Amino acid sequence: MARRSLHGLASVIAIGLTVAFAQYGGLFDNPGGNPALPHGGNDLLAAVLDVCETCGDVDELATAERTRDEWEAYFRDQEHSDEGESEAGALVGLSDEEIDTLAAYLAINLPMPEDDVHDDMEVAALPADGRELMQRYCVSCHSLAVSVLPEWQIEQLWLEVLQDPHHRGIGLSEQRLEEIAAYLSINPIEPDDVR
Ligand code: HEC
Repeated sequence: MARRSLHGLASVIAIGLTVAFAQYGGLFDNPGGNPALPHGGNDLLAAVLDVCETCGDVDELATAERTRDEWEAYFRDQEHSDEGESEAGALVGLSDEEIDTLAAYLAINLPMPEDDVHDDMEVAALPADGRELMQRYCVSCHSLAVSVLPEWQIEQLWLEVLQDPHHRGIGLSEQRLEEIAAYLSINPIEPDDVR
């Protein structure tokens, strides 16, 4: 079922992405289609902390305020359990997109309010990342395939789309909108992702 309508999608994309914009009707044939989305910042942080010898505890990270560049530099300065010190530090094995996704997630969502932070907290207690927010909020009305548009890769445009009248009712906080926008602009959804 899902495959049939996604074949339709693939041909729409083949016609051309600008034309595809006018063809949204077809894309809405597959509500709830849920592709395997790239990892979000929360998953990536859990993976990094698993192999990081020297990183702070989750509660310590949760109260830190750093820019994207500062978060990246922080993890590059840490030791990896197998590789020790290296240029990538605790980020060994992550792609550039994954590093950007992680750094954006941390810069946008941290520091957390003090009341939500406690000793021994797990990564899962940190704010939801772009992938989780997409799965929670973006598949009820239309397929994620609507995201296959290079024009929307610019963060500001994503913010405009998500604040247009179709979407305002979802009631996402500004922080969550910003997280989704950052996640999608770093990880544009490709036709293959939505098979
Ligand atoms: C309440 C229903 C609803 C939800 C939930 C929803 N959308 Fe939409 N979305 C729409 C409608 C309606 C349109 C316009 C469809 C059309 O133009 O034919 C749309 C269109 C879009 C478009 C095309 C650009 C545009 O503005 O027309 C994008 C991109 C998009 N949505 C992304 C998202 C993302 C990302 C989420 C999750 C945060 C989301 N949508 C959740 C209803 C929804």
